[in-house]
Amino acid sequence: MPDNLLLDFRSDTVTKPDVAMRKAMYEAEVGDDVYGEDTTINQLEAQGADLLGKQAGLFVSSGTQANLIAILTHAGRGDEYITGDHYHSYFYEAGGAAALGSVVPCTLPVNEHGQITKADLRAAIKPDDSHHPISRLLCLENTVNGKVQPTDHLFDLCDTAHQNGLSTHLDGARLMNAAVASQKPAAQIGERCDSVSLCLSKGLGAPAGSLLCGSADFIHKARRWRKMLGGGMRQAGVLAAAGQYALCHNVERLAKDHENARQLADKLASIDGVDVAPEQVDTNMVYMYLPSDKCADLPAYLRAQDIIISPAKKGFRLVLHKDIPASEMDRLALGVQAYMAANIAV
Ligand SMILES: Cc1ncc(COP(=O)(O)O)c(C=O)c1O
Repeated sequence: MPDNLLLDFRSDTVTKPDVAMRKAMYEAEVGDDVYGEDTTINQLEAQGADLLGKQAGLFVSSGTQANLIAILTHAGRGDEYITGDHYHSYFYEAGGAAALGSVVPCTLPVNEHGQITKADLRAAIKPDDSHHPISRLLCLENTVNGKVQPTDHLFDLCDTAHQNGLSTHLDGARLMNAAVASQKPAAQIGERCDSVSLCLSKGLGAPAGSLLCGSADFIHKARRWRKMLGGGMRQAGVLAAAGQYALCHNVERLAKDHENARQLADKLASIDGVDVAPEQVDTNMVYMYLPSDKCADLPAYLRAQDIIISPAKKGFRLVLHKDIPASEMDRLALGVQAYMAANIAV
């Protein structure tokens, strides 16, 4: 009997470059990017800028670096950036903007749809008063926990920020998931944002790298921050080639991950004791809730069947991606079903 394919639902960051992507990496033309001589990076930056509807692009090592560079470029020491209290640029990036740039975070509550409200944003923007930090930047995110953010809402928030003299940045780590799910061009979604980042190493399947895009002047300044942060990567065209391959071959297929996520959610929702809302699955993430006494043992139970999931926080986050084929997905639902049946019997 062949071994089971290992199914890893922890994140779409676990995807591995396939043979065709590795071939593109192998064949990449490279040069010293700090001298601006890596043709593959130059091409990818232009391709990214075009995709995101901005004048220029910058290839950076990670989504975290893209957000950090964006914040440091938009805002200075003692300035404030306003963002959601669970958005990645604040909650999951080790406080880099404050620690390295002395940019003060101001966090707003995020509702169950992943949104901050315009009323909260308005109330958070500080008047010009020497008691306060200077409100300088609004950082948004799309998707948020797999939820597509309505474009009108993003526009409204950006307009409010701009009317009050703030710049806007969109953490679009999974922007192509939002674009594919809503059938809107990524450039349109990010239209009112002064800068937009995009991760190549999540559902798009590249091993590393993100793009940060904005005006030519913004990217000129951002390039200096990238250098200061140690992000000048020399012959990184081998990585950029994977990113180029991902943008050419792995965008449309995200629809499959979204379809798989919905099917998985439907199957899980039919299991006794399992709480899943299939109608809330917009893209590639499914949230599954079990009674609290049933949560701790599930990851180890599934691991014995070659299925990896993260431990529950409030619920379990299950992420679909290109290395989980539709033909294998039932194994997770069957595993959860067997686990719940065994637990209920005990
Ligand atoms: C919304 C969001 N932004 C940014 C990042 C950071 O990306 P990286 O892990 O490449 O630093 C992540 C990572 O999961 C993310 O989910």
